Amino acid sequence: RAPRGPRLPAASPSSITAAPPAGGRCASPARLTVVDLVASPSTASLRGDAHPAIDVWSYGGGVPGPTIRAVQGSRLRVNFRNRLPTETTVHWHGLRLPNAMDGVPHLTQPPVPPGGGFTYEFDLPDAGTYWYHSHLRSSEQVERGLYGALVVEERRPPVVDRELTWVLDDWRLTREGRLAEGFAAPHDVAHAGRIGNLVTVNGRAPQDVRVRRGERIRLRLVNAANARIFGLQFDGHQPQVIAIDGQPVAPHAPERGTVVLAPGMRTDLLIDAAGRPGDSHAVGDVFYPRAAYDLLRLVYEEAVLREPTSSAPRTLAANPVPEPDLASSQSHELRFEGGMHGGLHRARLDGRTVEFMSLVRAGKAWAVNGVVADSHVHEPVLTFERGQSYRLVFVNDTRWHHPMHLHGHAFRVLSRNGRPTRHREWQDTVLMAPDERVEVAFVADNPGDWMLHCHILEHQDGGMMAVVRVT
Ligand code: C2O
Ligand code: CU
Repeated sequence: RAPRGPRLPAASPSSITAAPPAGGRCASPARLTVVDLVASPSTASLRGDAHPAIDVWSYGGGVPGPTIRAVQGSRLRVNFRNRLPTETTVHWHGLRLPNAMDGVPHLTQPPVPPGGGFTYEFDLPDAGTYWYHSHLRSSEQVERGLYGALVVEERRPPVVDRELTWVLDDWRLTREGRLAEGFAAPHDVAHAGRIGNLVTVNGRAPQDVRVRRGERIRLRLVNAANARIFGLQFDGHQPQVIAIDGQPVAPHAPERGTVVLAPGMRTDLLIDAAGRPGDSHAVGDVFYPRAAYDLLRLVYEEAVLREPTSSAPRTLAANPVPEPDLASSQSHELRFEGGMHGGLHRARLDGRTVEFMSLVRAGKAWAVNGVVADSHVHEPVLTFERGQSYRLVFVNDTRWHHPMHLHGHAFRVLSRNGRPTRHREWQDTVLMAPDERVEVAFVADNPGDWMLHCHILEHQDGGMMAVVRVT
């Protein structure tokens, strides 16, 4: 059995007070949370204790890795050690942090070799639900289990009775119950990615969740799957979306009652438990209509907490994300092409023009503005002037869904197919439906070379990745 994971920061002696940076703006010293994080081979009872444990790779000996918690405005230091048989890095998905801490191999840091370590340290300007994961051959390393949730608490969090975090994943197991090899297989790369045959919530086959009438629950959802998109429906309940990708949004019911969560994305929900003792309500996943299933059930206990009230949730305090100035913003188009049944006949790979079927044989299938990425290091597809506002038009010229993720920034989602969005959500990962055109805007305020890629990890491997530069 692997040693118990890193100490959780909350009440441990590793929460210390650091001196403010010299010449820093902060009046009071920022609180520092220190976490030790070890990546290593381990085992996980993904299918429950009645089944043999499965060989995985994990942070801290468990899947998911430890939930890292810290308060908004504080500083986080993660002493990372690599006890895997291969090199790796840790990426802090959705956090607006200095480029050198972003965990992208070769682009922002050298890979951490087996036996090596790296200290990640950065401030946490934004509250919200984030996550961390390997960024080196992620189609293999994330699939093997290298991910965990990162929660940045609001200074004044909303009042709830209980907070739950569900880190969703799916796994492709063989008939013998082992994790299937063949990561980034050409068929998965050119289609919907590696969809698994076992869905887990917090590293376990989902189990019923007991609730009490009258409870108000904050549910933090994280999609850590390589490729599976979830579309969750809460029978008998009216969840309110209060944050997307960590960023507050005006509380609203999800469109068509379905919380759509693509790989990389997070959603915070407030759920008022208004059922009666003995009730049992399904939480269904309906994203792939012909493969809809019940994820788990909310089962009401006999005890009643209180008679449900219907007080509307308040909007969470906004994070200090700079508002893009649309009037002065430049607009750039990014066209995504490729995959099966698409119109991509040839594209540039390594400076050569390659026919589509030769690309597929080489494990590639996708292009950004005509270029297929073959590694994390690339000539920037776009260069932004620091402090300027930009609009990006993501054009999905493929027959597939793609959640596009930009590192180091949050962007506002302005429109879809020319129609303004209702909530102008801040996101760091935006799902494009097949043939959809999504317009986003942001202030390029974080200097460095940043990844922009599809979070279906087989698509990323297959070339759907680019670098943007903020000068
Ligand atoms: Cu969540 Cu570039 O990754
Ligand atoms: Cu994709």
